[in-house]
Amino acid sequence: MKADMVLIPGDGIGAEIVPQGRRVLERVADVFGHEFQFRSCAMGGNAIDAHGTPLPDETLEVCRAADAILLGAVGGPKWDQPEAKVRPEQGLLRLRKELDLFANLRPIRTHDCIVDASPLKREIVDGVDILFVRELTGGIYFGDSGRRQTPDGEEAFCEMRYNVREIERVVRVAAEAAKKRRGHVTSVDKANVLEVSRLWRSTAARVMREEYPDLQYDVVLVDAMAMYLISRPRDFDVVVTGNMFGDILTDEGSMLPGSLGLLPSASLGETGRGLYEPVHGTAPDIAGKNIANPLATILSAAMLLRHSLNLAAEADAVEAAVNSVLQAGHRTADLARGKPSIGTDEMGSQVVAAIG
Ligand code: IPM
Ligand code: MG
Repeated sequence: MKADMVLIPGDGIGAEIVPQGRRVLERVADVFGHEFQFRSCAMGGNAIDAHGTPLPDETLEVCRAADAILLGAVGGPKWDQPEAKVRPEQGLLRLRKELDLFANLRPIRTHDCIVDASPLKREIVDGVDILFVRELTGGIYFGDSGRRQTPDGEEAFCEMRYNVREIERVVRVAAEAAKKRRGHVTSVDKANVLEVSRLWRSTAARVMREEYPDLQYDVVLVDAMAMYLISRPRDFDVVVTGNMFGDILTDEGSMLPGSLGLLPSASLGETGRGLYEPVHGTAPDIAGKNIANPLATILSAAMLLRHSLNLAAEADAVEAAVNSVLQAGHRTADLARGKPSIGTDEMGSQVVAAIG
């Protein structure tokens, strides 16, 4: 097949890991006989420096026309002053919103051979396989916000809102995913306090009851979920939640496999087009040193093959290659636990060599 892809390295380690994702996609194209075209675009802090905006119009237009987008990460200390008028993250948020990528899939799976990389005990994390479905274009991230003067001084506010349609569609994505997995959906909210969560809870319950009566369904409050995620993570299959709760819980969940460097994500809308990115950030402290773990990006490329291009066998091949490389003992520094490690490029080469 032919496919047009956009590569957005972004900031920090993005410039090192996205090329590894590209090499893997090129290898897949060679081995399976596809024609992939790549185009690189600017977004984030580097785009602020070069174009004065974190999401140049050209990047947005190129992304709209593409089949899929592979992103590194955006942000960094250079653009992080609290008083900054434009921020790298605004580019990413706007791209998600403009493309209506409302469902963020974040699978968290422990890899048997590196279970010891987790700070948690083996008996807790062994066999964990959770799919987080995080709502990505609503909630507190996109409500009205601002500052105002009050008699007590300056005040800032951020509004959290969800409407029924936004809740329904993301719950459906979670339920459809659960059908292909272990058939269990957990919805996470804060319905004991937040009105938004009460609408979330009743809407989710109705969708599950009316449309997915055969699936197992339960609800957990977000504070309890933070606890269960490390006390009994194996009890969860698909977890659906709002934007901010999902942001926080997935970083927590990354410690189950042991490194944020292993977690891929897919952001999907109603069309096949998707944005694929590692869950981790730009890691400015290790940028430019060729030590970042490219596996989260490579696994994001696998999700791209599966979700946007419908190439399941190719996606399986990439995931199997990553497993075999880990099984063979290759580790980047984040996973090495003091043992010898290999660099970003070398890890990419190992995965490329293991495909096909
Ligand atoms: C993520 C990140 C982003 C988010 C930031 C960079 C805007 O933390 O994708 O989890 O909060 O969504
Ligand atoms: Mg986050």
